Amino acid sequence: MSESKPWSGRFNEPTDAFVEAFTASVDFDRRLYRYDIQGSIAHATMLGRCGILTQDECDSITSGLERIRERIESGEFSWSTKLEDVHMNIESALTAEIGDAGKRLHTGRSRNDQVATDIRLWLRDEIVLIRAAIEKLQHGLLDIAEREADTILPGFTHLQTAQPITFGHHMMAWFEMLERDRQRLADCNRRVNIMPLGAAALAGTTYPIDRQYTADLLGFERPGDNSLDSVADRDFAIEFTAAAALIMMHLSRMSEELIIWSSAQFAFIELSDSFCTGSSIMPQKKNPDVPELIRGKSGRIFGHLMALLTLMKGQPLAYNKDNQEDKEPLFDTVDNIKGSLKVFADMIPAMRCNRDNMRSAATRGFATATDLADYLVRRGTPFRDAHEAVGRAVALCVAEDCDISDLSLEQLRGFSDKIEADVFEVLTLEGSVQARNHIGGTAPEQVRYAIEKARRRLADD
Ligand code: ARG
Repeated sequence: MSESKPWSGRFNEPTDAFVEAFTASVDFDRRLYRYDIQGSIAHATMLGRCGILTQDECDSITSGLERIRERIESGEFSWSTKLEDVHMNIESALTAEIGDAGKRLHTGRSRNDQVATDIRLWLRDEIVLIRAAIEKLQHGLLDIAEREADTILPGFTHLQTAQPITFGHHMMAWFEMLERDRQRLADCNRRVNIMPLGAAALAGTTYPIDRQYTADLLGFERPGDNSLDSVADRDFAIEFTAAAALIMMHLSRMSEELIIWSSAQFAFIELSDSFCTGSSIMPQKKNPDVPELIRGKSGRIFGHLMALLTLMKGQPLAYNKDNQEDKEPLFDTVDNIKGSLKVFADMIPAMRCNRDNMRSAATRGFATATDLADYLVRRGTPFRDAHEAVGRAVALCVAEDCDISDLSLEQLRGFSDKIEADVFEVLTLEGSVQARNHIGGTAPEQVRYAIEKARRRLADD
């Protein structure tokens, strides 16, 4: 294959060897080969239909590109740094394969609209896979939520015991976070799925092209409305990375809870051995490495978001070589998001819940204090006074080292004469969660309703 550069015409001296390697992107952008070929076949088909290429030329380009794709996939293709990037590697190979018709493929096109098209085609497919991975994890959460709809544990604010909640309710909170992520990606995809091809270098092209036709062939929503913007825009990549950063932030928060819950001090859950590792020195250790690593990985994804924003901030229109730097952060984001979601989705169904430990933790820390205050309010006490009375009851319990439900009726009546014997029902954990029986509340009935609604939502799209 000829390794002369397609742009060598106006140059008298060869490229410095180090600069050649330094500016090349083929080592990483070859990952786009399938989309580069798909875009080229669509472009050639359009050129044929518009009479810009003959049908023979178009057919030979298409079959040549298909053969190249097979060679790449079977590992027979040799990539050359001298040919800079995936686009020029494939184009040179095409010309070597089919002769002069190969040189006509680039008519009415530039690498600037080509690369922007390739990334969008690639990202569109990745978004489908990532959304499916989120959905798989969501189904895992729904199954646990269903199983643990009645399981009571302390809910926290400030990581201090606040009120009893159900574990199913907690799992459904995670579900909601992921549901926003899934929807955000669908929304982001509306802006990914716009076609740059036809913008050529920056100003459009003098050939009578049919951009709508190419867009239809490639399944794009429509061609971009402005040629300068089409080659220069990387908003879609930033938006995607922002959505990915949110996903990682969510996974990181969930990881943090899994780590806390699996500590000996909490012992609410136990992660399966297959997702933990031991210590080389402390024989007793079973470390939650997978959630820790995911929590750690969130940092690099946030970093990629910053990298892409910074990449774009100083660029004048239209295309600049800076843009070559968009790919590695994007690729790394996609790989780590997919990996993290996969391992999370596998880890969650294999987690064991220690219901007894959850329950006994909920009996410490006066989780039902608010229920007692609400009880007094129902009997006519203003909320602030009720709060004060219960606060004094809690202070007594702290001094006596007991729970509110351990106080006798007489002791309780010492704080308010509105208290009657039925108070003990509201002080139970079951009474507490069951009382929060409205949309979005922690009552088992509401959790079951939320699960049902969530399953329908997933089935509907
Ligand atoms: N490798 C380049 C990139 O990733 C392809 C586009 C190059 N265009 C150019 N005019 N040098 O952005």
